Amino acid sequence: MNVLVTDPIAEAGLDRLREAGYDVRTDYDIEGQELLDAVADANALIVRSGTEVSRAVFEAAPDLVIVGRAGIGVDNIDIEAATDHGVIVANAPEGNVRAAAEHTVAMAFAVARSIPQAHARLKDGEWAKSDYLGTEINNKTLGIIGLGRVGQEVAKRLDTLGMNLVVYDPYISEERAAQFGAELIEDLEECLRRADFVTIHTPLLPETENMIGTEELALLEGGYVINCARGGIIDEDALAAAVDDGTVVGAALDVFAEEPLPADSPLLAVDDVIVTPHLGASTEAAQESVAIDTAEQVIAAFNEQPVLNALNAPSVDETAFPRIEPYIPLAETAGKVAAQLLGKRITEIEVHYEGEVAEEDVELITASALKGVFTPLEWQVNAVNAPQLAKDRGIEVTESKTRQAADFQSLVTVTVRNGDEELSVCGTLFAGEDPRIVRIDGFRVDAIPYGHMLVARNYDKPGVIGFIGTVLGENDVNIAGMFNARETYGGEALTVYNLDHSVPDVVIEELLSDDRIIEVKEIVLDGQEELTKRETPTSAD
Ligand code: NAD
Ligand code: MLT
Repeated sequence: MNVLVTDPIAEAGLDRLREAGYDVRTDYDIEGQELLDAVADANALIVRSGTEVSRAVFEAAPDLVIVGRAGIGVDNIDIEAATDHGVIVANAPEGNVRAAAEHTVAMAFAVARSIPQAHARLKDGEWAKSDYLGTEINNKTLGIIGLGRVGQEVAKRLDTLGMNLVVYDPYISEERAAQFGAELIEDLEECLRRADFVTIHTPLLPETENMIGTEELALLEGGYVINCARGGIIDEDALAAAVDDGTVVGAALDVFAEEPLPADSPLLAVDDVIVTPHLGASTEAAQESVAIDTAEQVIAAFNEQPVLNALNAPSVDETAFPRIEPYIPLAETAGKVAAQLLGKRITEIEVHYEGEVAEEDVELITASALKGVFTPLEWQVNAVNAPQLAKDRGIEVTESKTRQAADFQSLVTVTVRNGDEELSVCGTLFAGEDPRIVRIDGFRVDAIPYGHMLVARNYDKPGVIGFIGTVLGENDVNIAGMFNARETYGGEALTVYNLDHSVPDVVIEELLSDDRIIEVKEIVLDGQEELTKRETPTSAD
């Protein structure tokens, strides 16, 4: 597996990937065609905020499984395009939170006491003691915009330093804010009016883009602005003007709408705007932590294990994963069988869970069932993009659960519909791990789902099974196993054959020419090679 790393991450993360046996290539600061060429054979791409992972990148990377973001913000990654291409996007949201919070606190002190400006003048040989009269943060009001992971850490630190905290975050409760000693304010304007210092800790989203402009800055009159979240949340021209004309006393910025910050940015021309080059997460501990977390997610994705911080794939609790893991291929297989047997455009898919499995979070199992349904239609599909594919194609998906199970400890039923026509396939696990198809369209069967299978519907008449066996045999199609089920004596029957080879069309035609046979369909599943290998005696046997 090839891992391409296009922004610098700590060596510990690269080592972790190499130890796992992957080919790791670092190619920093590439963009445009160079980036598109570099991702062509990549199975994983690891970035920080420097690489723009656009739709074109996904189009150029047919084998990409995961984009790992060694950090929090994913605004440089087109997640919708990733989902369309079935690529997981995962970030490392924990490792640099404290570093970002500490940087915010440092920036608060730096701007309140003009530390960078005084430092620069002293280095230039000037003792400008009387030019600086700072502001104490003690007893001042801090307005926190966004009380998520970083915002909370900032709140804890600045609360203990004597600040009064007010919060604007429409997605949290009053109680949550109170846990951090903060008062939740319903509207942004009121929060800005109350604050002496405002610190931004939201992601850059359409709703947060330019959320602080000229009018909002006017409400903060006489205050300070800190942004260690993302550029683009504050209108930079408006901020430069507001600090320049004294509406806002000072601003401390670590992040910018365009990075690196262009030399002609108006922010650089205003003395009371202090800046750092996106250093919030740049501590040794944080970088090591996010690099290792990102490497672990890549390894999990390669091994089809749950990717804990996946942003566009069904989430799974790590402790629950071993319980649901065997149902993932079972549901996928049931989906494949159902879609192939219906053999028509599908307008609706229902996944029903019975018994123990119904106690679990089944999001990933359902996504796998959808993957199974779509695979025979040859859509580029995996569990990441299957739910989106269903939505895009107007296919209704329903999921239902019953805790009681009549005959099995757990049962997963995939039903596919085309208008009024429907077909259901039920699967279970024998001994908790062996997948079995136990019902097809209401017929009770016991079929091991692998390789080539033939499903025949026929009238329950003497000699039919013998006839099918003879036709297959005469055409060199070996039967590895079979199961026959019938509705009633002399009624309709369904027979499932496991075969060692695929069935030529002429064989199907010959079988269908017998009027005791209603329908014959070949199902193709994975696993033929493994089974043949297992069953073929070696010279040592
Ligand atoms: P988070 O997702 O944990 O928290 C974001 C918070 O913002 C949430 O509580 C959410 O409810 C709130 N929010 C969302 N929309 C909002 C809106 N319109 N108004 C007010 N609040 C809103 O994110 P986090 O991990 O705390 O990261 C916060 C920001 O810091 C992100 O932009 C991240 O990229 C950035 N960051 C920067 C650095 C750096 O190096 N400078 C380091 C780490 C994180
Ligand atoms: C982040 O979102 O994690 C930060 O931007 C840190 C970074 O990678 O520079």
